[in-house]
Amino acid sequence: MRAYYFDNLPGDQRLPHDYVPSRPVSTETLASLNVRFWHIPVEGYEDAVDAVAKERGYKNRDTINVSKEGMGDIYEEKIRGFFEEHMHEDEEIRYILSGSGFFDVRETPSDAWIRVAVEPGDLLVLPAGIYHRFTLDEKDQIKALRLFQDEPKWIPHARGSATDANQHRLGYLREIGVGA
Ligand SMILES: [Fe+2]
Repeated sequence: MRAYYFDNLPGDQRLPHDYVPSRPVSTETLASLNVRFWHIPVEGYEDAVDAVAKERGYKNRDTINVSKEGMGDIYEEKIRGFFEEHMHEDEEIRYILSGSGFFDVRETPSDAWIRVAVEPGDLLVLPAGIYHRFTLDEKDQIKALRLFQDEPKWIPHARGSATDANQHRLGYLREIGVGA
């Protein structure tokens, strides 16, 4: 995993969008936003991922495979959809099995985008209520475990005034010590 500030320049979302020189973001900064990260080598990952899942109460999981090859014509539309800024009422937990991609998370209160580049072995937990988006990179392929506590609630709540007032959004702001 590598985290850095997104350069906000127009152009293909799949490009790195790294400032020159890069503006790295520390794991402490991510932790202050309640973004958690582990690296667990894919070779023999099961026990270590199970241990994190047990500790954090992730009872269920499935596998998602997103690739240009596998999706054909709908691929471009699909990855544009993932890139719409949104939040969820539950944590978003991903363990990368193969391929790579970028999770962009909003730093609050600066409102800057932090880009988190994930690779195989990365386990990333985005807290409920954080605004984020996802894109594949130029390799156009990622396979990941999605872990969840009970029922999967993948509903994306697009950023806007209604979502800003969502209890999970407000709860997140309280947890990170921003706002009411
Ligand atoms: Fe999401």
